[in-house]
Amino acid sequence: MHKHMALIGFVQAQNCSNYPGSWRHPLARQDFLTADYYQHIGKTLERGKFQLLFFDDRLALPDIYGADHSASIENGVRVVKMDPIPILATIGAVTSRIGLGGTLSTSYFEPFHVARQFSTLDHMTGGRAAWNVVTSLNDSEALNMGRAMPIAHDRRYDRADEFMDVVLGHWRAWDSDALVINRTTGQFADSSKVRRLEHHGKYFESHGTFTVPQTPQTHPVIIQAGQSGRGREFAVRWGELIFAIFPNLEFGKSAYQQMHDEAKAQNRDPNSLRIAPLIYPIVGQSKAEARDKAALIERLAKPIDALALLSEVLNFDFSRKNMDEAFTDAELADFGGLLAIRDRVVKLSGKKNPTVADFIEYSARGTIKEAPNFIGTAADIADGLEQWFRERACDGFVIGASHIPGTYEDFVTFVVPELQRRGLFHQDYAGPSLRENLGFSGYRSAATVRADT
Ligand SMILES: Cc1cc2nc3c(=O)[nH]c(=O)nc-3n(C[C@H](O)[C@H](O)[C@H](O)COP(=O)(O)O)c2cc1C
Repeated sequence: MHKHMALIGFVQAQNCSNYPGSWRHPLARQDFLTADYYQHIGKTLERGKFQLLFFDDRLALPDIYGADHSASIENGVRVVKMDPIPILATIGAVTSRIGLGGTLSTSYFEPFHVARQFSTLDHMTGGRAAWNVVTSLNDSEALNMGRAMPIAHDRRYDRADEFMDVVLGHWRAWDSDALVINRTTGQFADSSKVRRLEHHGKYFESHGTFTVPQTPQTHPVIIQAGQSGRGREFAVRWGELIFAIFPNLEFGKSAYQQMHDEAKAQNRDPNSLRIAPLIYPIVGQSKAEARDKAALIERLAKPIDALALLSEVLNFDFSRKNMDEAFTDAELADFGGLLAIRDRVVKLSGKKNPTVADFIEYSARGTIKEAPNFIGTAADIADGLEQWFRERACDGFVIGASHIPGTYEDFVTFVVPELQRRGLFHQDYAGPSLRENLGFSGYRSAATVRADT
């Protein structure tokens, strides 16, 4: 078991958080197109010693509902989506310790491109970069990227396995001591310590020598969030940090154990993984204040948020059905994307053929109920997090924002000191690199080693 929990800020390069109602909150900042907005989040989370902030991403806005973008645009349902990588660089420039993670899809970019972007980010931030590896899931992304449809689920992961081989091949091309930089002898680097990649595979070809020397962390930290059988196998094979959604503690404990079993089956030390579920915390000075805050936040959600996001994530136009109309077997079979949501609605509603209204209610899509809520005083929230951590449902938490920057500010000001007082969270960063701040055993950055000697 890890001594300290990891805290990860879930951040969107969007007009709202993952909770679309967040932009309607009276205290929400609206300058989401400025660097200052994101830099403020970065500085706030670094004040709270968060190990990492990370941006999720999707390569399209939700435009499957009504086969049009108007409902999402009019209602601001996750419609602005900027490129996370330049934003991470701007945050990196005003922070010095917090890890900086971004999402990039294996389905629409070349491995060389991804390897180079994250290596560059790792150098520019002194070893703080992380890559959330996703395979992408819906038609809108495919259409934006010039394809008719996404690659089928399991094949996406087969392809992604090979993608990882190529990326890691590039990242391992330069030994740590390859750079010589001797002006007297004129030798820049030792070519025997730089290898050319010759990858000839089923899905990818990559032949050549990587252009970025080894990074401060050896290579950026790898994040993954696969949840299906095939997705989880992939996550455990490659992920160092694994994100998840656990609807409750019991589910979390069992999923955590399954991931550890999967790691053992793959001959991997389970302690080399860090598993962190998404939560929405709402903290108040008193329980009553926290409940009032939560009530206000919950009222910000609109039914259209759920409909637009369900259409997006299940790759099916929900406007084709009336609210109380049941989906047919054929329609349910035709769903794509995140099928775990479909299966959860079938299970929780107790209906083989749920209606649109059932999907809104039981998926909780577009509301803060989509992930567990921790609502109360700092001590109440710390009690909940402590239980999840000690009972081995997780190694840390991904903190989702119900409004920005309020959620992050409240958590850092009130909850972090309580977690530190209980010895559950580190008092300060162990070093400049994300890898050492996540407590991956045996890893110490060159800067930390130098400081100690
Ligand atoms: C906390 C969290 C963050 C995620 N972020 C993204 C993301 O930014 N982009 C994306 O396309 N998918 C994202 N996903 C979806 C996963 O990559 C994955 O597709 C999903 O969990 C379904 O798992 P499966 O592919 O094994 O069915 C995220 C999932 C979780 C739990």
